[in-house]
Amino acid sequence: MVEIFAEYKALIVFLHVVSAVIWVGGMIALRFAAHASFMEIDEPKERLTRIAHAMKRLFIIVFPFTIILLITAVIMLLGYDLKNTEYNSLGQIKEGIWSVMFINYFVMIIRRNRASKLIKLGDMAGAKFSMGLIGKYMIPLNIILGLVAIYLGATLSSAL
Ligand code: HEM
Repeated sequence: MVEIFAEYKALIVFLHVVSAVIWVGGMIALRFAAHASFMEIDEPKERLTRIAHAMKRLFIIVFPFTIILLITAVIMLLGYDLKNTEYNSLGQIKEGIWSVMFINYFVMIIRRNRASKLIKLGDMAGAKFSMGLIGKYMIPLNIILGLVAIYLGATLSSAL
């Protein structure tokens, strides 16, 4: 693994960084650009349908990158032999952040799917509640965690 990492280091770091850009950047774009635009739609059913659709698209696009991020992270853990360096704890914190982000992402998918069903049943209040939690707390949590992980990545990058 050390040899493979040494040979393909630039590619592996590139894939790691691109995955973080798409995962975190996608959530920022949805929360602060697309969401503001959807709020201009007056009709509740149309507004909620558009938000649910945009979330579905983002969650699908992001999925492969969550996995690439993890695979490249594992390669780097082994390639740098991070466990046997003084930066072991930073690696562990990043593992924890990835896990919380992924669980949060998974729960968001479940909530969005439920909201989508409620829209079809005409329960706009239920759908609004279900997706409101995603927009108000769950996406912002993942944005903050993602930014912390990127900062820790920059710290590791300049130290290793
Ligand atoms: C799963 C656990 C993770 C581990 C073990 C890990 C490990 C690392 C390591 C060792 C580096 C330094 C690479 C180098 O420069 O050679 C790095 C950089 C980076 N990581 Fe992670 N990472 C993890 C998760 C994440 C997550 C969740 C994100 C963001 C969503 C992220 C974003 C970044 C970024 C943007 C860099 C590049 C920073 C720079 O070059 O300045 N990482 N990571």
